[in-house]
Amino acid sequence: MPPAMEPEGKVAIVTGGASGIGLATAKLLASRGARIVIADLNEEAGAAAARDIASSGGQARWTVVDVTKPADVQRALDFAVEQFGRVDTVHNNAGVNEGGEDLLAPGSDFWRRTLAVDLEAVIGATQLEVQHFRRQGGGGVIINTASMGGLVPMFGSPVYAAAKAGVIHFSRSLAHLAAEGIRVCAVCPSFTDTPMVRVGGEAAIEAMKREVGGILQPEQIAEGVLELVRDDSRAGAVMRVTVARGIDYAR
Ligand code: NAI
Repeated sequence: MPPAMEPEGKVAIVTGGASGIGLATAKLLASRGARIVIADLNEEAGAAAARDIASSGGQARWTVVDVTKPADVQRALDFAVEQFGRVDTVHNNAGVNEGGEDLLAPGSDFWRRTLAVDLEAVIGATQLEVQHFRRQGGGGVIINTASMGGLVPMFGSPVYAAAKAGVIHFSRSLAHLAAEGIRVCAVCPSFTDTPMVRVGGEAAIEAMKREVGGILQPEQIAEGVLELVRDDSRAGAVMRVTVARGIDYAR
């Protein structure tokens, strides 16, 4: 892999960075010398994540952000500039799972929230981040967390799958921004052992393991994100992270 953007000395915002995949990514980037802004709805967990990174010798701040609110996303960008002087990378990772809700039940409208957090917020944030990178100069990297559920059907979570497919195609369709030094990519994890899937209990975890042959650890996804951040040749790339194949790229 041709490394180009080393995290050392760079500034990275991680949305949903208080837990699971975002937390693992924040920790990994911090361990490579990046300065981190944890942007998460969960104030307590966000503060704990920043403390955790600091206690390992990293530099991290946290800010409460609801990614569905563009003003919050802009505030996180401004906060990162205020704290660390610039923004080089954003991992748009915050997400929710529809959690077995029945789309076809009368009056069911949970799906609006799923789309708002998992797709619309990614589009809105990317828009603001690209504008920020253009004003700032010097390019930038955006990694959007999609899911394997955006590439293969998810019979229990059709709206989540639709949102993630949207994130994949959206990210792919911004490959041309590489011409101005801005790279937008998507990462598609398979089932990963985080609080999001733990809500279903041990039985859900076992079912996932049976379905895809195992469950990933969040640190494995973080390694994938690090690769996407570093590899200057990746723009509009769609990375899969699976138990069977590890890291590879969808065409
Ligand atoms: P998690 O539940 O451990 O972490 C999600 C974080 O996002 C939480 O800290 C939560 O407070 C935050 N968040 C939720 N809504 C927010 C909002 N509106 N604004 C700001 N922060 C918000 O979940 P996990 O598993 O780490 O998920 C991270 C991403 O990875 C999500 O986009 C998820 O869809 C995706 N993903 C997860 C997989 C899994 O099996 N765990 C598989 C594929 C994708």
